Amino acid sequence: MKKIAVIFGTRPDTIKLATVISELKKENDCFEVLTIASAQHRQMLDQVLEVFELKPDNDLNIMKPNQTLASITKDTIQELDDIFVKEKPDMVVVQGDTTTTFLGALAAFYRQIPVGHVEAGLRTYDKLNPFPEEVNRMLTSCITKLHFAPTATAKKALIKENNKKGDIFVTGNTVIDALEVAVRENFVFSVDKVNDIVAQNKRIALVTMHRRENWGEPMKNAAKAIKSLAVQYPDINFIFPVHLNPVVRNAVNPILSKLTNVFLIEPLDYLDFVNLMSRCFLIFTDSGGVQEEGPHFGIPILVFRKVTERPEAVKCGTVKLVGLNKSKIVKTAKNLIDNEEEYRKMASAVNPYGDGLASKRIVTIIKNYFGMGEELIEEFKL
Ligand code: UD1
Ligand code: UDP
Repeated sequence: MKKIAVIFGTRPDTIKLATVISELKKENDCFEVLTIASAQHRQMLDQVLEVFELKPDNDLNIMKPNQTLASITKDTIQELDDIFVKEKPDMVVVQGDTTTTFLGALAAFYRQIPVGHVEAGLRTYDKLNPFPEEVNRMLTSCITKLHFAPTATAKKALIKENNKKGDIFVTGNTVIDALEVAVRENFVFSVDKVNDIVAQNKRIALVTMHRRENWGEPMKNAAKAIKSLAVQYPDINFIFPVHLNPVVRNAVNPILSKLTNVFLIEPLDYLDFVNLMSRCFLIFTDSGGVQEEGPHFGIPILVFRKVTERPEAVKCGTVKLVGLNKSKIVKTAKNLIDNEEEYRKMASAVNPYGDGLASKRIVTIIKNYFGMGEELIEEFKL
């Protein structure tokens, strides 16, 4: 029996580890699963825990209003070390690029515990975009033993950085595993306001924004672009679940709160969010995860970023980088809204991020690492 500690703490890493945790738990003759939440997020983490019926074995509860990268680091690292000393896990699994991800890997390294990194190998090679996630990912890769790359592009990046080929596996992204079970026809939203907006039968554009590198003027520019579009297209409802970060709220709310067709709402729980996504016609976002989910539904996504570590959907044509310049955002969006042919070109359902089986593959690879599974089939070594 091997003890696997799974570490998460924010909305996206928890969503993307939920199916890995449930697959690990199915193998209860091989694995004891220890779940550890840093709780770098609180309410947004709790929303995810509730949807996936997860109860962390350890909850560090570190979130503070307006926390800094240093305060997250200070409050998490010692507590993780204490848990590792007491629980002696045989492997630590982390996901993605948050500060919790990097700290989980670092704390494991300090105790020489092997690390499995889910969603490894995404790169922009621009240390300030996304900030601090690009560096969090690179540092995590330095420490990682088993790299679970979502795509062949991510695997190539890891090989280029001299990680051992035999330690890298293309698994697909676990975000698709979660989507497969979440989206339903005739879904009733848990938020009345969303049901009311959907019932209006107008076109819906979904907006999200939170990245640190966009704080301040860039975020305000994007909000002004949404305002301009909302004024020009009163027949479109813009739904914007606003991230709980006060920095985001202070930038966005004053610009958008008075428009009758812009709905600034609280963050939606995962089921509400992805079901709303499946019903909208256009997405504006700076999110990483949303760039992976949108293509699954064939919805054009305009991304408020200069670069992306997720080039696959850009290549497929569903995602376009529009940056943070107001007139560029408005011009690109108008071209899509007004020009059916342009819209149709972008609105093709593609899925470069997986087939819904990533979590199962990851668990098979971990079993194999501990000599518990059959030989890995070639597919895993692509
Ligand atoms: C974090 C991650 C980012 C990820 C994002 C997902 C880092 C450095 N950043 O960014 O990679 O894309 O989560 O959303 O790891 N807050 C609440 N309640 C919550 C969550 C946040 O009030 O449930 C507020 C708090 O004031 C908190 C602030 O938001 O201090 C910022 O949270 P933090 O985790 O530091 O950064 P995010 O921008 O959320
Ligand atoms: N999401 C959600 N509710 C919302 C907005 C997003 O559940 O109101 C989900 C979304 O489906 C995706 C994830 O949160 O799976 C993306 O998280 P976020 O944008 O916060 O972080 P990122 O992916 O940029 O790290």
